[in-house]
Amino acid sequence: MKIFLVGFMGCGKSTKAKQLANLLACPVIDIDAVIVEQQQMSIADYFAANGEAAFRQLENEMLKSFDYPDTCVVATGGGLPCYFDNMEWMNQNGITVYLEMTPPQLVSRLHNREKRPLLKGMDDEQLLTFIIGKLEERNVFYHQAKLIINAFDLDPKELLEEIEAIG
Ligand code: S3P
Repeated sequence: MKIFLVGFMGCGKSTKAKQLANLLACPVIDIDAVIVEQQQMSIADYFAANGEAAFRQLENEMLKSFDYPDTCVVATGGGLPCYFDNMEWMNQNGITVYLEMTPPQLVSRLHNREKRPLLKGMDDEQLLTFIIGKLEERNVFYHQAKLIINAFDLDPKELLEEIEAIG
């Protein structure tokens, strides 16, 4: 079973991926972390040096070329499902899970905005407006996930049970 976690920045994909991988005793793959290691630079530096379009291309290639073990949990970047045919590809290759949160919940969790190039310098009000707008664009992709679950205060064991029920 390959589990792909998708959702907006700050919804807890990386943390939940680690917790699920712990429960399943399987590897966790964080696509952004793989990119950082391969490129030897942070995502913010990569954006600054090469631009967003190059980043989208790179995450697309990384998603599709990674040599996944049979059982693993994959944390994806917030934008990854919304470019190319990435969502479709993930649906063909594993179980996709959308960790949904409301815009105010996301704002309350997004403290480290400087690390995220799309959020640099935003105050809470600007961030809330940005998230509402982006979710309107992105929900069409996120909603193609096999499982959609409210991720605020979500217990990892409950999440795993939900995944196993559909997997
Ligand atoms: C992005 C989300 C980030 C990272 C990049 C772009 C996005 O990942 O891939 O900064 O477009 O939503 P996280 O969702 O892990 O923060």
